[in-house]
Amino acid sequence: MQAFATHYGYEPVGVWSAPGRVNLIGEHTDYNGGLVLPFAIDRRTWCAVGDRDDRVVRVSSTLTHETVQVSLDGLDPDQLSGWSAYVLGVIWALTAEGIDLTSRSGLDILLTSDVPLGAGLSSSAAIECATAIAINDLWHLDLPLQDLARICQRAENRAVGAPTGIMDQTASLLGKADHGVLLDCESFATELVPLRFADEGITVMVIDTHVSHAHATGGYADRRASCEKAAAALGVTSLRALTRADLERAEQALDDETFRRVRHIVTENDRVAHTAAALLDSGPRSIGALLVASHVSMRDDFEISVPELDLAVDTAIAGGAIGARMTGGGFGGAAIALVPAGHYDIIERAVLAAFAATGSTTPTIFSVTPSPGARRERALTVPSMTEH
Ligand code: GLA
Repeated sequence: MQAFATHYGYEPVGVWSAPGRVNLIGEHTDYNGGLVLPFAIDRRTWCAVGDRDDRVVRVSSTLTHETVQVSLDGLDPDQLSGWSAYVLGVIWALTAEGIDLTSRSGLDILLTSDVPLGAGLSSSAAIECATAIAINDLWHLDLPLQDLARICQRAENRAVGAPTGIMDQTASLLGKADHGVLLDCESFATELVPLRFADEGITVMVIDTHVSHAHATGGYADRRASCEKAAAALGVTSLRALTRADLERAEQALDDETFRRVRHIVTENDRVAHTAAALLDSGPRSIGALLVASHVSMRDDFEISVPELDLAVDTAIAGGAIGARMTGGGFGGAAIALVPAGHYDIIERAVLAAFAATGSTTPTIFSVTPSPGARRERALTVPSMTEH
């Protein structure tokens, strides 16, 4: 990474990278012990690392030009803030998981990324996972990827302060080209599911609405609290324990709003299972109705969509998309659409026109492909990036 030498004055020992993710289906189910089916995307964060001979860690990014310096002896999650908390939080989380770092020497870290920020494509997990995989290699920790996912989630929960589940980090670490990662957030079992989008002439369109979402302060934590309250009221440890057969009892026991939160989780778990089965049996052209039903459930029952996301989904479907839904935590961010070859330009134009007609901010529209998860890069250089 040329930028590393320019910044720190010497060559890095290695460059590692981790991708953002799109969640194909299974929203807000992860922290309820449920099922998710995300895939890693061809937008990544690169992390170049150099060795030091003291206990200092310096973190810098080509996107901010700010350098944050801490000592390995004084890592305190309450003192971490801003973007560097995603990096330093991972190092702190390693110690919180009982990894002894007292004999380790410090590091210089430089990050660069082309994962769009705030679009619901897990730019934060990409930073955490690039850091985690780099340190795991460099310090020969040999931690399995699923342990690294938990460590990254811990960093996000405690050092960043966002009460998120484990989906994003799992997708970023375990993703594989052309595959989705089916994760059971109760047993933590994973299965790679072939997506076959390219074989079937399907492009995944991302429509970033630029409506901002803030997990730490927004409705995400409220939704999580509602789910936990509902589980307690229904006498189960997590909503994963419920099936559609329990919904009648839930409706009687809960107020209308809490019931609808529960109904989303229960039906969404079902939809993830059906989507994985349909992908295996019949391929990606068969999952459109499941994606749309997921969006409707998030819009009406979980209430995490916004008008711009609904407009993106409705316009994409009207333009010939196989399926579409908002993706990620909600309250803004991006929608995805599975677009058959030949429809991409038509749908793109239709979405732009619909947003213009309603006076909404112009969305950014681009395609993504299911891509490999976190890895060490062979080269010591990456495309230089100052913005995206
Ligand atoms: C965010 C969180 C994930 C998950 C999704 C919603 O992306 O980081 O853990 O809860 O929202 O499905």
